[in-house]
Amino acid sequence: MKQCTTIDSVRQARASYGKVGFVPTMGFLHEGHLSLVRRARAENDAVIVSIFVNPIQFGPNEDFESYPRDRERDLAMLAKEGVDLVFTPEASEFYPPDFATEIVVKGVANRLEGASRPGHFSGVATVVTKLFNIVQPQRAYFGQKDAQQCAVIRRFVEDLNIPVAITIVPTGREEDGLASSSRNVRLSAKERALAPGLYKALLGTRILFQSGERDRVILEARLKELLRQNDIPQPDYAVIVDPRTFEAVNPVTDNALALLAVPFSTVRLIDNLPLGME
Ligand code: PAJ
Repeated sequence: MKQCTTIDSVRQARASYGKVGFVPTMGFLHEGHLSLVRRARAENDAVIVSIFVNPIQFGPNEDFESYPRDRERDLAMLAKEGVDLVFTPEASEFYPPDFATEIVVKGVANRLEGASRPGHFSGVATVVTKLFNIVQPQRAYFGQKDAQQCAVIRRFVEDLNIPVAITIVPTGREEDGLASSSRNVRLSAKERALAPGLYKALLGTRILFQSGERDRVILEARLKELLRQNDIPQPDYAVIVDPRTFEAVNPVTDNALALLAVPFSTVRLIDNLPLGME
């Protein structure tokens, strides 16, 4: 496995590959990330993974400094998966002092996660656009876990005619149902024990949907009630939305998503479940 830290060295190595599948990450890898890597491995000639804790997608009061990092462990995990190249850029080359460009997505990027974290999706859109231009993959892989991020990426890739096919991979979960996340290690023991309640509440809401309920207000009330029953802290949002626009849907359609964000003491967890999915 090759490790590149400069943009030129990635371009040089990439030139010798055929069809490239690309998995952008911020590292501290877990099974969720690896499911993206495995899918990319199965569908392409070469797999490139980037590890970069992207400073411009963190707000001033967010966890950029304390975001968990373990480069050696990440590299060992990726080597085992048969990854061809890992790109670990230096922030000083990626964002030189005269860097002045931002990709701003409107509409879908302004709602929910976008409203809770102003500037977050611009930071994501900007870094992903730069990474696509450097790596020039045929395909790129993103996780359903970050459903709104997927919708924002699909939006600007289509709007800007970026020639990369986007594949969304289902959410990887721990055995107790908690969605795998690099931030889970920062939950206290008590919070970690409660956290599977997010998935339980999503599953319970899906059961109500599958029994025929299509009223958004009733489904959202059930989702919130189930969160309370599972002793989950007051959510930032717990809603039923259209998976492309992230606007409220009523009546609720088969492709709708139940979606939530919950602030625990030091970590904010997000999760979602497509209601029509078996
Ligand atoms: P990060 O949180 O490291 O996630 C990298 C990729 O892994 C994203 O596409 C994310 O949706 C996916 N992922 C995370 N947890 C997952 C899980 N439990 N199951 C399936 N996929 C999962 O998302 C980012 O980094 C950044 O915003 C990035 C896109 C790299 C831009 O900086």
